[in-house]
Amino acid sequence: MAKNETFWTADGSHLPDVQPHTKAKHRLVEEYIQNWIVTLCGNNIGKRKKVLIVDGFCGGGMYRDPENGEMWAGSPIRIIQAVEKGLERVKIEKSKPDYDLQAKYIFIDSKKEHLDSLRVHMMGLGLGDYTNNPEKCELLWGKFDQQLESILLEVKKLRASSFFLLDPFGYTDVSMQNMRDIIELGKSEILYTFMIDFVRRFLKTNNRKLKLSFQSVLEADGYYELKDTYKDTPAQQEYLKDQTLNLFRKRTKADFVYGFSLLHNQSLVKYYLIHLASSVVAQRVMKSAMWAQNNLDFLCRHHDSVYGMGHKSVYYFESQNLPRCFDVKETNNQACIEKLDEHLMPLIYSGDGIQFSDLELKTIQTNPATIKHYVEFVNQQRDAKEVEVIRDGKITTSKQVKSTDIILRAKYKQTKLFT
Ligand SMILES: C[S@@+](CC[C@H](N)C(=O)[O-])C[C@H]1O[C@@H](n2cnc3c(N)ncnc32)[C@H](O)[C@@H]1O
Repeated sequence: MAKNETFWTADGSHLPDVQPHTKAKHRLVEEYIQNWIVTLCGNNIGKRKKVLIVDGFCGGGMYRDPENGEMWAGSPIRIIQAVEKGLERVKIEKSKPDYDLQAKYIFIDSKKEHLDSLRVHMMGLGLGDYTNNPEKCELLWGKFDQQLESILLEVKKLRASSFFLLDPFGYTDVSMQNMRDIIELGKSEILYTFMIDFVRRFLKTNNRKLKLSFQSVLEADGYYELKDTYKDTPAQQEYLKDQTLNLFRKRTKADFVYGFSLLHNQSLVKYYLIHLASSVVAQRVMKSAMWAQNNLDFLCRHHDSVYGMGHKSVYYFESQNLPRCFDVKETNNQACIEKLDEHLMPLIYSGDGIQFSDLELKTIQTNPATIKHYVEFVNQQRDAKEVEVIRDGKITTSKQVKSTDIILRAKYKQTKLFT
């Protein structure tokens, strides 16, 4: 075992220290899963839904938080708890008290002692109902890629919506083919930890072994072709990020691909959490979760193209003598809306305007904005008399922009062009 590798013992007594970026990842996953359940179950007229959630590299279930010495739950436990909280919200907030959610969990790990440790901690938290019921939850010992085929069959049989958390240590355990197979299911999505370190190392050393994985696992031939020596400059990091997202779009054929950066130190991305989804709604929910966890002042520092949304570890705030709760959201909010100008106005100004839902569809992967920012942007442009909003053939002044509304250049602006 590598010296610093995270590991668990079968009796659950060893708790690895949780890193700040892992905590950020956990918070993002639980925020997302909870809202995903609320959206899936709350916004339809039906009263039942089947979901299958796979944590393909689940680990031993519990960490120790070095900040306070307390226990910190790992991803599989957080996933179950987030689904339960989401369902509670559906019952109360969406007034569906008898909603029937059939959620099944599959947790996989290649180390038996990690699964044993997970079982111990689940039992300790009162989740024995899950560990003792294979209809609800399976703990599978083996390599993720070798388990995938039977899981795909199960998703198809159940006709369930599925979510795959793929959080390996390295970069060779999940292939592009694996991801294509998952996305092909249809109502499926993936949150994948992509170690950009691997690409950086490959670019720096051109190592033969790395090259083989680069070609066969990542199918990355023709990508990351830098002219200059790789030195982690902001421009080069921006290039790596763009290439990575484009590579995933092309190879997995997912309709919606967006990334969240987890930074190692002040300026170096350690890995990306890449969200691959077949529905715009899923991506919308994920972007809102990313906003909730983002602590980068990415826009005011013009770093949005390098990092996008992401998380800088606590050391950054300490080294800057900033309070940890330093609120980057407010500074980012208005900057984000202003930034939408670049992407949205050309679409609004071309032709006879554009339906609001199409505006979002065409640009959701190009910027960090959430649907609320889009609405705010349209309202600000309307107040500035730059655009008009047309509903059922008439101008509307409603601030609640609807997906079917047409956004077009204000009439007097159009005539001004010809006078
Ligand atoms: C980063 S840890 C997972 C941590 C966990 N997702 C969490 O956040 O609490 C990665 C885990 O994947 C397991 N693993 C490594 N290679 C694997 C493979 N090919 N298939 C399944 N699990 C694997 C390791 O044993 C380890 O427990």
